[in-house]
Amino acid sequence: MARSGKATVIGAGFYGSTTAQRLAEYDIFEEVVLTDIRDGWSEGLALDLNSSRPIEGFETRLVGKTTTADGSGYEVIEDSEVVVVTAGVPRKPGMSRMDLLGINAGIVRGVAENIARYAPQAVIIVVSNPLDEMTTLAQIASGFPHHRVMGQAGVLDTARFTYFVADRLGLPVGAVKTLTLGSHGDTMVPIASACTVDINGQTKLLAEVLPPEEIDALVERVRGAGAEVVALLKTGSAYYAPSAAAARMAQAVATDSGAVMPACAWLTGQYGISEVYLGVEAQLGKAGVKRIVERDLSAEELAQLRLAGAAVKAKAADVASL
Ligand code: LAC
Repeated sequence: MARSGKATVIGAGFYGSTTAQRLAEYDIFEEVVLTDIRDGWSEGLALDLNSSRPIEGFETRLVGKTTTADGSGYEVIEDSEVVVVTAGVPRKPGMSRMDLLGINAGIVRGVAENIARYAPQAVIIVVSNPLDEMTTLAQIASGFPHHRVMGQAGVLDTARFTYFVADRLGLPVGAVKTLTLGSHGDTMVPIASACTVDINGQTKLLAEVLPPEEIDALVERVRGAGAEVVALLKTGSAYYAPSAAAARMAQAVATDSGAVMPACAWLTGQYGISEVYLGVEAQLGKAGVKRIVERDLSAEELAQLRLAGAAVKAKAADVASL
């Protein structure tokens, strides 16, 4: 099997290390790099992950490297095609994603500057929270063209929605399709017209199968699903579903697959929204976001998406100064 290229994951917490593991287990890269500021941490994880290769049967090499804020160690990311930024601190119980803005902004800014220095051709996928704002900041700090910086949220939120619907109806997750756009937070926008379930060989709209108040309750659970996990774990936040989402996006970029998935991407007039990072469907490939895919939305969905865009834009104005 032909393996090529290099993917990097910055930040070796649970989110970062499981993302690196998933990328390596795809067995499509020559090398997956994992970095962290904790001395020896990512080297230790790489040693452990490499030792799993004979058991799991993949040849992608993992390289761990301790980095410092001033950029030492970053030479290891040179020539990465895609860099997933997980650096930053997760929420504690009771915190909103937005409560992390101040602390994570400094971290993400430094990381983005170092990526620009050492992997100037890379595509950046940000997962640090608050997601839409950190994606905005990573673009500003890297100076990369907007299409080479995106954020991960919609694949995760959509997966959670799909799972909750499947669980409620007792269906396989493969029989359910859902979609959320908008922000990774309070202004997440469920797209009812794109939510379907396959029952007895027939595809039905979710709205034909569940009453509106039940769908609303499921959407509310999706909005709070990250916090629900944080509350249960008590320390740290979700990482299995988030890392699955980030790794699939990185795979689409590295393989130039052209897959369309929800992503936090820069809008230039789509849906009447411009100059803001927001969750929309995007076609991904080597260039990063190849194009934004617009679909027909109901008047209410469109209004909600525009509100979400306005909310992120209002915050983005502060982000540049962080
Ligand atoms: C979540 C975090 C990772 O939604 O944003 O779980």
